[in-house]
Amino acid sequence: MSAAQHIIAPSILAADFAHLSQDIEMVNESAADWFHIDIMDGVFVPNISFGFPVMQAIAKHAKKPLDVHLMLIDPDRYLQACKDNGAHIITVHYEACRHLHRTISAIKELGCKAGVALNPHTPVQVLTDIIHDLDLVLIMSVNPGFGGQQFIEHSYTKIATLRALAADRNPNLIIEVDGGVNLANAGKLLKAGADALVAGSFVFNAENPTSTIRDLKNIDISQQRI
Ligand code: DX5
Ligand code: ZN
Repeated sequence: MSAAQHIIAPSILAADFAHLSQDIEMVNESAADWFHIDIMDGVFVPNISFGFPVMQAIAKHAKKPLDVHLMLIDPDRYLQACKDNGAHIITVHYEACRHLHRTISAIKELGCKAGVALNPHTPVQVLTDIIHDLDLVLIMSVNPGFGGQQFIEHSYTKIATLRALAADRNPNLIIEVDGGVNLANAGKLLKAGADALVAGSFVFNAENPTSTIRDLKNIDISQQRI
């Protein structure tokens, strides 16, 4: 995938929930490609974000696809609700699924793109026998549950290993990175093989979120020193 094509997905978790429509409008008008939507259950991760009514409200205003990251156990229970509330991409956690193949098939049957997220401690090799069925793999570069955490450096190695694993099995696989992404590490992540960058606090805490998104989108990895 060439540099010009990489995807930027601002994470709504870092938006101002009291002025959500303004932040959605900002993303609509920006160079961003997707809305990243984090749903948490307080069990799989030690936090609760927001649920389907909020997601539905976002979907109503969003002019770009909703990239939904489910941080909850037994996600099969919520796939239909996810679809009904506007999801385009549904990503479930490897660590939260008993029958991952069944879950991925169910997501695809709903007409959504299917993704699997890996926690920092989970090796990418666990996906060897399912990678050909996936549209996306989400590499967590922080422990899931909160925005604003520090990026885990080992993530570069994981992305490169996953890219190599996907090379003959699924060359079109989208590799997405989530957690602590900023302008200091984004180029190196793309160079390692990432296609999609999630950014929460780096975008929404910026003085100018629109130009921050533009900066992330404009990264040219041919100029990148590694
Ligand atoms: C964390 C979420 C992330 C979060 C990223 O569990 O999955 O999407 O919003 O936030 P930042 O970019 O601030 O690390
Ligand atoms: Zn996320």
